[in-house]
Order: sequence, then C-alpha cells, then structure tokens
Amino acid sequence: MRKVKFVFILVILFLSGKIIYAQPSNIDPYHYKIKKNIECKNGAVVSAHTLASEAGVQILKEGGNAIDAAIATQLALAVVYPGAGNIGGGGFLVAHLKSGKNISIDYREVAPAAASRDMYLDAIGNPVTNLSINGHLSAGVPGTVAGLFASMKYAKLPFKKLIQPAIDLAEKGFAITEAQAKSFNATHDDFIKLNTTIPVFVKDNLWKAGDTLVQKDLANTLKRIRDLGEKGFYEGETAKLIAEEMKKGKGIITEKDLKKYRAKLRTPVVFNYRGHIIITMPLPSSGGIILEQMMKMAEKYNVAAMKFETAQSVQLMTEIERRAYADRANFLGDADFVKVPVKTLVSDKYLKERMKDYEPGKAGSSTQTKAGNIKESEQTTHLSVIDNEGNAVSVTTTLNNSYGSKTVVSGAGFLLNDEMDDFSVKPGVPNLYGAVGNEKNAITPGKRMLSSMTPTIVLKNNQPYLVVGTPGGTTITTSVFQTLVDIIDFKMTTDDAVNKPKFHHQWLPDQVDVEKGFPEDVKKQLTKMGYTLKERSAIGRTEVIKKTAPQKIEAVADKRGDDDAAGY
Ligand code: GLY
Repeated sequence: MRKVKFVFILVILFLSGKIIYAQPSNIDPYHYKIKKNIECKNGAVVSAHTLASEAGVQILKEGGNAIDAAIATQLALAVVYPGAGNIGGGGFLVAHLKSGKNISIDYREVAPAAASRDMYLDAIGNPVTNLSINGHLSAGVPGTVAGLFASMKYAKLPFKKLIQPAIDLAEKGFAITEAQAKSFNATHDDFIKLNTTIPVFVKDNLWKAGDTLVQKDLANTLKRIRDLGEKGFYEGETAKLIAEEMKKGKGIITEKDLKKYRAKLRTPVVFNYRGHIIITMPLPSSGGIILEQMMKMAEKYNVAAMKFETAQSVQLMTEIERRAYADRANFLGDADFVKVPVKTLVSDKYLKERMKDYEPGKAGSSTQTKAGNIKESEQTTHLSVIDNEGNAVSVTTTLNNSYGSKTVVSGAGFLLNDEMDDFSVKPGVPNLYGAVGNEKNAITPGKRMLSSMTPTIVLKNNQPYLVVGTPGGTTITTSVFQTLVDIIDFKMTTDDAVNKPKFHHQWLPDQVDVEKGFPEDVKKQLTKMGYTLKERSAIGRTEVIKKTAPQKIEAVADKRGDDDAAGY
C-alpha cells in the first residue's frame, strides 16, 4: 500500500512538472564526432559545438519546438564552448513562428549605471583600449539569461528540462576538442592575469584533445537558474557573487544593475529580396539595417551574371559594403537613446543616391565616400534551428572578444563579456574590430552598445527556406550578405556558400580583407583597380539550415571551427 502511495505521489509530481526526467541523450560527451553536412527530415540544429547541437536535437525529438531547442542549445554552449557560449554575455534571437508571426528578442548587454562617456580615456583624453577589452571594467550587464526567459513565452517544454543537458555537461564534464585545448593553452596567461581566483580553464600542464573539463561552480549557478528562474541569476547568490567579483577587480556592475536588466521584444527588420522575404535583427544591432541596405543596393544589379568571386562581383559588393559601413559608423546607435533615421537609410531613393558614384573597374575611396547625406571576436557564436512544426530560429550570442573580458565570476564559474568595447570608447577611434563610431554610439548608463550580430531567416513562398548567421564582429553582416547572395543569386550549394573564402570591407580602414584561399587572379585584378588588399585567416563561422521541401532539410556547419550540424 505504501509503495502504491509513493508511486502515486511520484506520478503527481511528474505531471505537475516538479520532477523532470530528462531522457538520456544518446550522445557520449567523452566520445563524439563532429558532423559538417547532414540531410534530415524533421528538424536540425547547427551550432559551434557537437554537444550543443545534439542537446538541441534531443529536445526536438522529445517534443520541443525550435525555440525550446534554441534555449537548450544556448545553455549547452555556455558550458561546452566557453569562448563565446555564455550566460555572462548577451545576444539576439530572430524567429519565424508557425503562426506566421516574426519576432525578435534583444538581450544585448547594457552599460552599468556607473558607466560614463569617457570612462576608458586617460587623463589627456586618449583611449586606454585594454580597459574596455580585458577584465572587470570591460563588462556590460549580462542579458543572456533574461533573453532565455523572454524566449520561454514561445517554448513548449518546461525550462527545467531545457537546462538539464547543460547542468549535466557542467557537473559531469565532457571531453574537449583539439581546437579548444589549443585555445585554452593560448589564453592561459590572460586567465591568470585577469582573474581574482584561478578559473577551471587553467591547468598546470598543457590541455590536450580528450581532456575532461568539469565546471562545478557553473553547474551550481545553472541549478540556481533552474530552481529560481531569472532571479537565480539577477538576484540572490549569483548577483551577489557578480557584485563581489566587481569590487575585487575595480569593475562597476552592481546588484542594482543586475536586478534592473530586462530583455526587450523588438520589431524585426523585414524586407524583400528577389522574391524572398528576409527577416533579421533591428537596432541595437546594426546588422539588420545594413544587411537591408546592402541587399537593396545589390538588387539593382544583375549580380548573378557577374558570377561568384569574379573581380566584377567582388568589386560591386565591396563598394556596397563600404557605403553601408560608412552609414553604420555615422548614424547607428541604440534607438532607445539616440535618434536613428532608419526609414531613410533603407529607402530606395537614398540607396540609389549612395551608389551614384560607383565606378565599375575603379576602386572607390573612403575619404571621398562618407556617410550619406541625411539631415538630422570577434568571439561571438551563432546557432540555427528548424523544427517540423514550421518554426525557424536564428540566434547569435556573444561575449565579444574570445572568452569576453576573460574574467570569471569567482564561485559562479562563468565568464563575463567585454561588450563595453562595442561602444565608441572615443568617437572616431577604432574599436577591437577597427570599426569607428560617433556620438550615437557613445557610452550612457543603461544604453545598449551597437552590435553587428545578424541572425537572419529567409522565407520562400512564405515558408522558412534559410536560417543563417555567423560570429565575426563587424564581418558578421558582410558574411551574411555574401552567403545570401551566394545562395539566391549565384545558386551555389549550401556547403560552398558556407565554406568558400569570404571578403570584407567596412569603410574604415579603407581595405578589402580577403580570406586565405581567395583566388589569386581576382586579387591581382582588384589591386589593379586600386584596392588595398589584406589577407586574413578565417572570416566568420557561418551556420546554415536550408529547407527546400517538406521533410527535406540540409544543415551545414562551417568547416572553419568545431561547428556541428545535427538533425533527425
Ligand atoms: N560583439 C560583437 C557584436 O555584437 O557585434
């Protein structure tokens, strides 16, 4: 009788959601294989790490929708991909819901109340750049946890279920990849220099592929979030630990700043491009607006006839990028704080005028091409998700630099962002990505710093067709632009659109960055036209899901990193 009563109580607790039995994942966190290109029928997740992609797919298989999977994947990334996955940073989510509604959620970090316009300048007004990039003072008030809970409105499964894979991975550990081992070893000295307590990412000997990373403090923080919801991060023990850490390292985030933080539901940027509907992120990301500018400028030309990566198409797209990035530097900032002429910036009349001085075969100049005439780590990470209900989700989150500020909150086990560097530390002075800004993006308490993150969804015949995004600082938007043109205009395979070399122009500095492997003859022709070229290693890590018919999904993970495509 007692046994029956016990079972009865268990059933009631289970049905009321008090006990969540996570189904065992079929992925072994100590032995797993990275998958780059898969085809599947029901749903897919592409992210920066196999264990995170698999956590998302497991949630889809258990009846969750794409939002559930995106939440679980982000939480898993906060454990298995500490360079950019996070709960100490921020991000943006763009979704097309099965109801036909498009949404975007802004969980960008904000400047703390004690922040001020010139906080990173020395006595004679010169920027002390390291202050905005490394350590306690470089951190903005984190937004990710608030963003996850704002996303829950569209989810189906209880949060406790979505966070469990992350807790398990943090508590029991997982085997790190070779790239992760190298990255930890390369950051060893900074981790020691920028922390008040030596973090778990530091080891006496060198890290190597297959070593196990266990994060007990992070597991406890995740459990507080599981049990107390948003308050498990923004109030109580975790908030106290953050505020104490700040005091130890001359940072300025307070418990009051944390309690005040709110994620915001925004109206996405939506526009047409050659019969497709593009849905992307509005301000405080510059991404959506300048993507719309670039695609609308491109739409006026027969780009397809110019062919992929010829001197002709690269020159046109470079000049388009130059003009859009000049506008980014001059007009864009957090629209809750400054006036931004969004309508004009994307209007046909204005964009036509912008391309008036474009000369095929001759390099433009950023001294002559300024912003338009209007009166008035690089370490980010992207995940794309699609389900079998008609939902598509595109999420880009960031700590800014690799491992953000590189400062871990003692006792709480997570890294804080260095997003304050995305503000214009001093108008006209380049940030970490060489991008300049002006007063519109100056530091003000409570303001969100301008971002480049461009999580994007493309609809064809009103159905999700592409889910696209990438990390890469200011190269994010040019990479998304090129990926869309590659697929829509050049009809390239998804794999080629993701993996072929990319290029980037951001107005200032006036140079074309070309990725390793960029065709030599095109480089020669561009140099002859008058362009300054600079070769660089990887540009972005683009994650694309393409759905061409019901039950026909292709998911491609960028070969530039450990990125993984999973599906079922
Ligand atoms: N921290 C990179 C970005 O938000 O654009």
